[in-house]
Amino acid sequence: MKPVTADQAAINQAADLLRQGRLVALPTETVYGLGADAKNPEAVKRIFAAKGRPADHPLIVHIPDKAALTDWAIEIPEIAWKLAERFWPGPLTIVLKKHPDVPMEVTGGQNTVALRVPNHPVVLAVLTEFGGGIAAPSANRFCRISPTQASHVEEELGDKVDMILDGGACEVGLESTIVDLSGDQPRLLRPGQLSKTEIEAVLGSALIVPEADEEIHVPGRKDVHYSPKTQAFLCTPEQVQVILRGNVLQHRHKMGILSYATEINSNLFDYVIQMPKNVNDYGHLLYSKLRELDHAELDLILVEQPPQTEVWLAVNNRLQKAAKQYLEDFQSRLTDK
Ligand code: TXA
Ligand code: MG
Repeated sequence: MKPVTADQAAINQAADLLRQGRLVALPTETVYGLGADAKNPEAVKRIFAAKGRPADHPLIVHIPDKAALTDWAIEIPEIAWKLAERFWPGPLTIVLKKHPDVPMEVTGGQNTVALRVPNHPVVLAVLTEFGGGIAAPSANRFCRISPTQASHVEEELGDKVDMILDGGACEVGLESTIVDLSGDQPRLLRPGQLSKTEIEAVLGSALIVPEADEEIHVPGRKDVHYSPKTQAFLCTPEQVQVILRGNVLQHRHKMGILSYATEINSNLFDYVIQMPKNVNDYGHLLYSKLRELDHAELDLILVEQPPQTEVWLAVNNRLQKAAKQYLEDFQSRLTDK
């Protein structure tokens, strides 16, 4: 399935396919989504089958505007309306108590539902034309890197979708920030470009950040996620310096590096990508650059860690999942060989 230009005819066709219970890949400002009619359980099941995703992992429902919230959620707190008013359309997902009409297939059997109004003209046009909610996880196979361009969707799920709408490269490039408002206190379930501080400013209270090992049913919080196929290792700028001095990696490996602070002028690496200094530019490019490195048939990828400050939270969160092992593990692995 080749991506198609998202003109009006294609948007109408996408809405028709959704009405027929088919799958349509759609651009959003964060990443591409694999969409289906959120009120059609059979269509929603097709999403799980296409991705190879376990059925108990809940999906985000995309809605056209905040007024539609009452069709999908109940007991909506005032702060949900405030966040929606301030940040929608935009890269924020809000978890609320689900409306009885929301199929259990969408929520993975839970009594809460994740909702978001995406900020991309193509998905908004499809939502308007379709008139319902679109359940859409990222349009990648389970545990793989999220697609930020239509060609990535083709690569991941080309034979499993009924249509891929091309809306260009996703501006944000990282999945939405998820805030859970279904409990006593607002909780940050997944960091994104929209920061904790910006959300707290609207909430007027602190966002609780659950511990990583807390038992929460959120696949985005699973350890292995967003991963390239090639082994990837995170390393500090100091470790990159040590490697460049040449006394660590005696073994011959075909190596790539996604560097940040360090300028790489060394033939030690077969593939070098220098990432931008600005956090939004970095996030915008991250997944497509990891994908590019993954295509370069390398033995391993080194990822130089960017700053550890709050604005970098979402980027570091994704890097830790993509490049889980630190260099120490890598070295011990080499000596095992
Ligand atoms: O930016 C995004 O959010 C993209 C675009 C397509 O909108 N979507 C996305 O979907 O990243 P997905 O399925 O890859 O991730 C959805 C996340 C998962 O971490 C899931 O566990 C969480 O949303 N989620 C969905 N429903 C939930 C619920 N009821 N309670 C808690 N977390 C929920
Ligand atoms: Mg995903």
